[in-house]
Amino acid sequence: MEKNRLEQILDCFGKVKVAVVGDMMLDDYIIGTVDRISPEAPVPVVSVKKERFVLGGAANVVNNLATLGAKTLCFGVIGDDSDGDRLLNVFREKNIDVTGVIRVEDRPTIVKRRIIAGTQQLLRLDWEDASNIRKEIEDLLLNKIKEHIDEIDAFILSDYDKGVLTPRVAKEIIEMAKGKNIIVTVDPKPKNAQNYIGATSMTPNRKEAMECLGKGKDTDVLEIGKELKEKLSLTNLLLTRSEEGMSLFGNEKIENIPTYAKEVYDVTGAGDTVISVYTLAGASGMEWYEAAKLANTAAGVVVGKMGTSTVTKEEILEFYNSIYNEWN
Ligand SMILES: Nc1ncnc2c1ncn2[C@@H]1O[C@H](COP(=O)(O)OP(=O)(O)OP(=O)(O)O)[C@@H](O)[C@H]1O
Ligand SMILES: [Mg+2]
Repeated sequence: MEKNRLEQILDCFGKVKVAVVGDMMLDDYIIGTVDRISPEAPVPVVSVKKERFVLGGAANVVNNLATLGAKTLCFGVIGDDSDGDRLLNVFREKNIDVTGVIRVEDRPTIVKRRIIAGTQQLLRLDWEDASNIRKEIEDLLLNKIKEHIDEIDAFILSDYDKGVLTPRVAKEIIEMAKGKNIIVTVDPKPKNAQNYIGATSMTPNRKEAMECLGKGKDTDVLEIGKELKEKLSLTNLLLTRSEEGMSLFGNEKIENIPTYAKEVYDVTGAGDTVISVYTLAGASGMEWYEAAKLANTAAGVVVGKMGTSTVTKEEILEFYNSIYNEWN
């Protein structure tokens, strides 16, 4: 791809509106030092120095999109609690539209709260209720999506199996999108794969793709990809393969894209970066193969950063140039 063309596409990122629907989470990092053992029980006492709130789950996809300059709408369900306030505050600090986030009284905001002393994680506390949302909440969520459907260029369904993407929610979104020619990409949980028949694309990792079809580890990854794409009637399927990069299953052929990551520090959240860049590039008019190359490039940048991270357009452009070097 020519440099001008790539720059044009990256410019388009700011004009595209992507709706993320899924399980929004809050990651909390409580960081301190330990100087003594508690007199109450044989446990360390952490003297807290700072606390950091980070967007997690589907909210990390929203964060990736916002960092890339895209317009985003997030649709999800959080609790009517203080962690819900914190999650909304982080969204607002980043100028992310939260009109599609529904607050309910009967389930908590999903939180993963870590207590860290120095570099050592001492404990993690999780809050969640992963049961499917009630029918009335499904109605509310689907109605909100309907209200905005004419502004949306693409949907990302980010399924962490925490109850927002019920079979009905998934199916109705795909139906709505079909009628309007809107892209729908899915980061699936294998047991819910059947909910996503007819989506544009799916981005499972190796293990998830195997599990979607109930196959064992020894099965050929290329056979799995082909079969899954057919079975779910997807336009294409992007199978992420960690250190082996990714494979795109299109209409006629399979494209294998190797990874060019030089330093790998932390692969957490790489999948969220992949689906964000892939969808945004596709919605900006890029061919799916080029979009996959760009997503793979972005993943190569993000695995070189510590913690759940995001990438900017400038970082993608620079790394793409250093890999493919087609412009010099
Ligand atoms: N060890 C690695 N070395 C090089 N690149 C990697 C590595 N792990 C991940 N990547 C890059 O990140 C992309 C997505 O990684 P992976 O297949 O592990 O997705 P995932 O399991 O969905 O990730 P996540 O942990 O975010 O759910 C890969 O296609 C590749 O480009
Ligand atoms: Mg993943």
